[in-house]
Amino acid sequence: MNFSREIFIKRKIGSRKTGECDKRNALGGGSSSPPSNRAGIPISNPVPHTTLQFPLTENIFPYPFAPPMKKISRILTFTFLCLVGILVVLVTTIYTLSSARMNKTYEVKSVPIPKFSKSIDIAEGKRLYQSRGCGDCHDVDGSGRTFIEDPALGTLSGVNLTSGKGGILSDRTDEELAIAIRHGVGKEGRALLFMPSTDFQGMTNEDVGKLIAFLRSSPAVDKPQGELKAGPLGRFLFLIGEIPVFVSAEKINHEANHLTNITPSVSLEYGKYVASTCTGCHGFSLKGGPIQGAPPEWPPAQDISKSGLTNYTESTFIQTIRTGKRPDGSEMKFPMPWQSLGQLTDTELKALWIYLQTI
Ligand code: HEC
Ligand code: HEC
Repeated sequence: MNFSREIFIKRKIGSRKTGECDKRNALGGGSSSPPSNRAGIPISNPVPHTTLQFPLTENIFPYPFAPPMKKISRILTFTFLCLVGILVVLVTTIYTLSSARMNKTYEVKSVPIPKFSKSIDIAEGKRLYQSRGCGDCHDVDGSGRTFIEDPALGTLSGVNLTSGKGGILSDRTDEELAIAIRHGVGKEGRALLFMPSTDFQGMTNEDVGKLIAFLRSSPAVDKPQGELKAGPLGRFLFLIGEIPVFVSAEKINHEANHLTNITPSVSLEYGKYVASTCTGCHGFSLKGGPIQGAPPEWPPAQDISKSGLTNYTESTFIQTIRTGKRPDGSEMKFPMPWQSLGQLTDTELKALWIYLQTI
């Protein structure tokens, strides 16, 4: 009785050991559970030592512990091709979407523009040209210049606005020029690129007339049109709404009526009129921030509303715009165009100060 019990227990232990061995066999692709020796390794059906020797001395798994070079290069090539594919699709989408908006045409009602020929009006036209920053992109002589050259943003050049070879003046009526300046729309309704008409849309008929009289009186300059090409980053920023002047025609209400004239005076209304010159860089709210569409090395424009100009008085404000030096003696950096804005009259600057103090 006792004896048979011992045998029973032995059998039990033996079979448990065999069970452990089964697991190992399963790992090594082994078979059923034959009787085992003390170490638990089956005797009747030994499994090849390569799969059962612990710790493992050979790498029995081909991947991922020791991937062969061929496989790595295949994976890298595949990943690279996938990335190139994604990039091509992305760039194509950016170009297609942006071109669709850039090639849109606009119909703008023509408004009669008053003609000026007196030298005093032409001189005022010249002052407007200089103080509104036209020369920053169309050059002082109106012949056009490249003002941004960046492979990612694009190469942007102002048009030759004279009647010389390569210039557009002889081929435009005053009304067409006025539409280009105030609506950002060129001949046959073409949307102009990077012409910041959002800054000039409020210009009165008389001021535009004087500006055009100045252009017509300027000497012809022969100069071919510089490159005007939007880069991939420029187009992308345009698509996500970061560069409103990219196609300023999109942002302008083409139905709005234009004022015929506004009398210069030290008033809030006139200050607001002049302040539109500052919105292209200081933003529509004039609260400053990074200049949209500018190359990364340009500093952000500063807050010129009341909260930003706490260190200024009317006279130091005027002095700063005229000299480029702030009350603390520091210089205002490029692209703050103080050389052109210095051409603003005392009346314009005083009115501007009044307006800026209200916002
Ligand atoms: C930020 C640069 C910039 C400033 C500032 C600027 N322009 Fe332009 N302007 C351009 C560019 C770029 C074009 C060409 C757009 C195109 O052809 O798609 C252009 C086009 C024009 C055209 C249309 C030419 C045509 O083909 O019919 C006129 C007119 C013009 N500008 C006048 C002015 C006047 C006047 C001012 C100042 C009140 C001014 N621009 C200020 C960049 C500028
Ligand atoms: C072409 C872009 C551009 C235009 C247009 C422009 N600004 Fe600026 N402005 C700047 C930038 C950039 C700075 C910052 C310069 C710096 O960091 O030194 C600046 C700085 C200033 C400052 C100094 C602010 C301070 O905190 O000290 C004043 C004042 C100012 N602008 C006034 C004006 C006014 C007024 C107009 C319109 C009549 C105007 N700006 C138009 C780009 C511009």
